[in-house]
Amino acid sequence: MRNRSFASVLLLLIVAISAAATERQPNSDYRARRTALSEKTNGGTVILFAPTEAEGPNDLYGFRQEDNFYYLTGSKEPGLALLISPAQPASANSPARPYTEILFLPGHNLSQEKWTGPKLGPESPDAKERTGFDRVAKLDTMRDELVRILPQPRASVYTEQGKSSASAGPLEWLSRANAFPNYVGFADVNPLLASLRVKKDAGEIALIRKATDASVAAHFAALRTVKPGVTEREISALMQYEFGKRGCERPAYAPIVGSGFYSTVLHYSEDENTIKHGDLVVMDVAGEYSMYASDITRTVPANGHFTARQLEIYNIVLGAHDAAIKAFKAGASTLSRSGSNSLYQVAMDYINTHGKDLHGEPLGKYFIHGLGHYVGLNVHDAGEVNAPLQPGAVFTIEPGIYIPEENLGVRIEDDFWVNERGELINLSGALPSTADEIEKAMAPNQK
Ligand code: GLY
Ligand code: MN
Repeated sequence: MRNRSFASVLLLLIVAISAAATERQPNSDYRARRTALSEKTNGGTVILFAPTEAEGPNDLYGFRQEDNFYYLTGSKEPGLALLISPAQPASANSPARPYTEILFLPGHNLSQEKWTGPKLGPESPDAKERTGFDRVAKLDTMRDELVRILPQPRASVYTEQGKSSASAGPLEWLSRANAFPNYVGFADVNPLLASLRVKKDAGEIALIRKATDASVAAHFAALRTVKPGVTEREISALMQYEFGKRGCERPAYAPIVGSGFYSTVLHYSEDENTIKHGDLVVMDVAGEYSMYASDITRTVPANGHFTARQLEIYNIVLGAHDAAIKAFKAGASTLSRSGSNSLYQVAMDYINTHGKDLHGEPLGKYFIHGLGHYVGLNVHDAGEVNAPLQPGAVFTIEPGIYIPEENLGVRIEDDFWVNERGELINLSGALPSTADEIEKAMAPNQK
């Protein structure tokens, strides 16, 4: 200890603290994802770049790692690059090569580190151990490594090419630097990654559970607080405090607390009104825990009692939610809007065959969004919506009816996991969802 400089002790402390802040899965989990991806590329090489601190969102919460990059590395550091190449047999122009993976780290920008903290550098003696990569190298060497690794004269490279991707600029530079062979085919890595990301491993489920448990606690706090005269912003702030206190680093999406007319506005996030007697309040709020999202909505009456009309619509939405759960069959049901296995259709049929609007019309036209979406590193996570829901999937079921003419919006949203046995597990099921349960939970607020 005596031989270490104050700066290096401080650096160790900061690294130890930040390591405790985000729960990272074991290195072997991220490596398993990299090898699984390399098995899907038909011999192609994956090249991906993490955003830099200037590119990664955002002004409010600081840098956040890009989802695919995090999925493959478990690293929150900006500016990294990744290469994964499957074993190659010998060919006329290239010798045989084993499976290869390299994490490239940029050199330090010491003045930037004064603003946003120390970074892992390629010179760190424990960089391999910390990242779990077979090899780590200086980002500057990437061009020469590509020339060495990519087969000649033909190579296929899986990456993200869209203009908004962090990989687009660096790939352009690598092309100029003649890093690629004459005949290089670029393909989109996203569909391959989506097919992997849709099946969550045990470590991911544990993190989604933590995000969800913290968000459920936030909803319980809101149930105890909503009453006429309280502002939407106070409820939003309270919920963010409650899930933050339980370890969430940020909201998983812009919190929505909408009362009265604003209960009918799907992504209302101004949260600027005062809750009034007779309003319904839609609260679509959840946190992100160690990079994994939750997504929960409850709808409650401002004064703790649903009116007869609010109760009628509430029970139709709950009935649609429960009908979709009942209809679920692992390996068959989908989140698609059409098709014989569509859970959306089940919910839509339920809504259309129960209740009417003020003009005697069926209510289906007021269910104006999809039934659900995958949840994971992103609140609207990667995955094919038309594909059957398989074990490992995590997704929302969130029917809603929004009637602006009646200032009446209801959404009920829970997060579900399909376990190894194909059973549907409601991860947010600890939260009240029947009208009775909600009124009971809110009874103390009226005193
Ligand atoms: N909870 C926000 C959304 O699903 O769009
Ligand atoms: Mn949602």
